[in-house]
Amino acid sequence: MSKVALITGVTGQDGSYLAELLLNKGYVVHGVVRRSSTFNRERIEHLYLDESIREQSFHLHYGDLTDSSSLNRIIEKSEPDEIYNLAAQSHVHVSFQMPEYTTETDAVGTLRILDGIKELGIKTKFYQASTSELFGKVQEIPQTETTPFYPRNPYANAKLFSYWTTVNYREAYNLFASNGILFNHESERRGESFVTRKITMGVARVLLGLQDRIILGNIDAKRDWGYAPEYCEGMWMMLQAAEPDDFVLATNETHTVREFIEEAFSVLGENIIWQGENENELGVLYSNGKTVVSIDKRYYRPTEVDLLIGNPEKAARILGWKPKTNFKQLVKLMTLSDYTKTKTISHL
Ligand code: NAP
Ligand code: GDD
Repeated sequence: MSKVALITGVTGQDGSYLAELLLNKGYVVHGVVRRSSTFNRERIEHLYLDESIREQSFHLHYGDLTDSSSLNRIIEKSEPDEIYNLAAQSHVHVSFQMPEYTTETDAVGTLRILDGIKELGIKTKFYQASTSELFGKVQEIPQTETTPFYPRNPYANAKLFSYWTTVNYREAYNLFASNGILFNHESERRGESFVTRKITMGVARVLLGLQDRIILGNIDAKRDWGYAPEYCEGMWMMLQAAEPDDFVLATNETHTVREFIEEAFSVLGENIIWQGENENELGVLYSNGKTVVSIDKRYYRPTEVDLLIGNPEKAARILGWKPKTNFKQLVKLMTLSDYTKTKTISHL
């Protein structure tokens, strides 16, 4: 008998990689999708358009994390062995502008699923998409599973509620429920408003003459960036462990946004020189003096997370999980992907 998985957030970056991984492992996969006035399934289109996959092993259901009745119906109907709760309003900057909706989805949404599992009496394992944003104003370097949390924005506050609700349902009701405390992970499928993808798309467009410059916020923030498909495998590994637990997934390497920009331009043979300071700082091409990066305070956050770097030792020891793609390899694959795609589209 095939195992059955239910993924919320299946149309997102991680949801799409996880769906592929589970289908390749022979799972039947159910995904929760939101109704949208424009097409929002690009990342899973290749799975959905394959008739044999669609008919036999990949099923999509309309639902929303703000709507218990849809979630309960989907859980009851799909009878999953494993639930991966990846759905979220996942943008930190947006969460300052939509704190209530972010909390409804990212905090209460998790409670809705966990309580649905409990009340329906469904025997399923549960994965919660927790985040390094919980560490916020970091209390320890590098961050581990025992580092105290200090969230710095509505998104992280909501995820803190979900983290502890997952722990509480594990302890109170004996559910197999685990938190993956994942540090930033990126890919060719990363949402276009997150900084890495904004940079790699911007570099491609600037060098192909389709965009004047890339306009960014705080380029001195440091992040521990890994490659998303490897992190999705880590999620699955957490639910195959002997016991439910909480695990950090990270590369243990940290870089500034500035370094990401420099590396992305260098992949395409260009060097950046920095001129000026703070919001007047400019990034200029060494080859011809053209300004290609500038700063706009609009992208600053009211409270910033300055530095993230994780230690994934526990995941290595207990799960056998290790990151494979390093910073330079990640920047290269994302930049080349966006350059190739942009060039193809602009030549059509
Ligand atoms: P993403 O690309 O933004 O995808 C988010 C998914 O959630 C999308 O499928 C989105 O649907 C769905 N969604 C949003 N609001 C919803 C709602 N109210 N009801 C149902 N679905 C909803 O995020 P990601 O990068 O794949 O991240 C996956 C999860 O891991 C998120 O919970 C995120 O907070 C967490 N996380 C991510 C990272 C990272 O670096 N990527 C690190 C740590 C934790 P639409 O496609 O319709 O918008
Ligand atoms: N998005 C964005 N856009 N960020 C910018 C920009 C810009 O124009 N300019 C500078 N930054 C800085 C942000 O201030 C932040 O310090 C850093 O770049 C990374 O921002 P994001 O790529 O938006 O990611 P994030 O770290 O805030 O959040 C991501 O990672 C978390 C895990 O640590 C998201 O994927 C979250 O959902 C996830 O939990």
